[in-house]
Amino acid sequence: MAQLEAGDLAQAVIDRMADAPNPRFKQVMAALVQHAHAFVREVELTPQEWMTAIEFLTATGKMCDEKRQEFILLSDTLGISMLVVAVEQIKGARAVQAQVAAGAQPPTEATVQGPFYWEGSPELGLGSDIGEGAPGEPAYYSGRVTDTAGTPIANCCLDVWSGDGDGIYDMQMGEKAGMRLRARFHSDALGKYRFWSIKPTFYPVPDDGPVGDMLRAMGRHPNRPGHIHMMVYAPGYQRLTTHLFVSDSPYLDSDAVFGVRNSLIVDYAWHPAGTAPDGRTMEKAYYTAAYDFKLMPAA
Ligand SMILES: [Fe+2]
Repeated sequence: MAQLEAGDLAQAVIDRMADAPNPRFKQVMAALVQHAHAFVREVELTPQEWMTAIEFLTATGKMCDEKRQEFILLSDTLGISMLVVAVEQIKGARAVQAQVAAGAQPPTEATVQGPFYWEGSPELGLGSDIGEGAPGEPAYYSGRVTDTAGTPIANCCLDVWSGDGDGIYDMQMGEKAGMRLRARFHSDALGKYRFWSIKPTFYPVPDDGPVGDMLRAMGRHPNRPGHIHMMVYAPGYQRLTTHLFVSDSPYLDSDAVFGVRNSLIVDYAWHPAGTAPDGRTMEKAYYTAAYDFKLMPAA
């Protein structure tokens, strides 16, 4: 058998997949092999550098457990998570292009899920306060969920989560800490939702692991602008995973995970102590944040 030259190696690997039963897997792996080989040739990667990369990925895996997902963090900080979200959104937007051209609203933009989603948060009634007892200034969230034609979506789930006013998520609080600042709400018959939480602040992504070392080597800061996460879903519609970003937060222009979309930046209006929009008596100042979500029909 003829010996393979560096330039032929990628094709040789791809040829070995001739019998792969799953065509999509084959397509993805062929492109991965091609690009990875081109990358090695382009930077003339040394054996020591390749070993450093393998040690880095090994350390990244070892850092992962039920509450710490270092690989998501790696994907996020390299912009890959946001690219995957954007590619999916472009496909979805193409599907509703005709409706939007005919006057329908564009769907709400998606952004990264991040590493702090915790499935199975409590289901609470509209108007509940998930911020009580947590550090942070109170904020009242309200709005409506509709389809792109403006038709209300009743009983739509809003699965929300955020860090506290110090930028700490419940999942970062150690072994015994339970869920905090997260819940699932369902929109009413008019598609409306409302709940209380806090005004989130900027925070650093966990930078005490391999990804933190990488960010420092890149000369980058680890901070994300203040935001609250939302997963919005109802039968018959595409699940939307997004954030609302706080408009006066630092780092909106340099989010460590590249997740900011202008359409997701929300003004948090300040109010003195008094009667809140839902009739609640507030003994201290509070904020209100209003946002309407527009979902795409399921593919
Ligand atoms: Fe977050």
